[in-house]
Amino acid sequence: MGISIKSKAEIELMREAGRILAITHEELRKQVKPGMSTFEVNRIGEEIIRSYGCIPSFLNYHGYPASICVSINEEVVHGIPSKNRIIQDDDIVSLDAGVIYKGFHSDAARTLVMPEASEEVKKLVEVTKQSFFVGIKQAVSGNHVRDIGRAVQEYAESHGYSVVRDLIGHGVGTKLHEDPEVPNFVTPRRGAKLRPGMTIAVEPMINLGEYDVYWEDDDWTVIAEDGLPSAHYENTILITEGEPEILSTAPGIPL
Ligand code: MF3
Ligand code: CO
Repeated sequence: MGISIKSKAEIELMREAGRILAITHEELRKQVKPGMSTFEVNRIGEEIIRSYGCIPSFLNYHGYPASICVSINEEVVHGIPSKNRIIQDDDIVSLDAGVIYKGFHSDAARTLVMPEASEEVKKLVEVTKQSFFVGIKQAVSGNHVRDIGRAVQEYAESHGYSVVRDLIGHGVGTKLHEDPEVPNFVTPRRGAKLRPGMTIAVEPMINLGEYDVYWEDDDWTVIAEDGLPSAHYENTILITEGEPEILSTAPGIPL
């Protein structure tokens, strides 16, 4: 399948989807506290998404049973919310969410740091976020997808971390996952050439230890094999004639 180039009108819809998603993440950042179940996190997130007239795009996606992926500590991504899973005061909590606004998707993830988290794990979260910004410096017209992955990988590894190999970023638009694939690491092929009007989700998943992961028995939750913490940071971005534009953002809300 080819890579879709979005029109001005479509980009406007994706900006609105991204704005609503950024507001959702900000509200979750304010409300998520130790003692809360991951089920409650999902309930709050879904309510916010629906209050803006959006559809939570993850709900029922290939059978995924919730609207927000909540992944704690060594859980890398795709944790399933549960009433029995209570957030602890030294946890890091990755929240991944997607919304559909008038047929257009936005996809973004943040990793929240609970008040008693260690300095070591706080640094992992910060470097993971920075690896996204280092990566998207390469997300310019004429570059290839691999230029993004190389930058993310070099930055993460320079801090002694490793980049998860089994999951990657992706194009995003009328579907949650579109072409091109956007790995966060160097691949043998250079990948798609970036062009203005492409919209992609760049989503580094960075492990404190080794990059190997496995899937839990629920067939969703991805876990770092060595049991060490993992962080995730993601935004939907637009390739332009100049610097990329982050779409999953809103005025006055920190990224
Ligand atoms: N943001 C996730 C990704 O791009 C989407 C998760 S799909 C779900 O891989 F079904 F797990 F929610
Ligand atoms: Co994604």
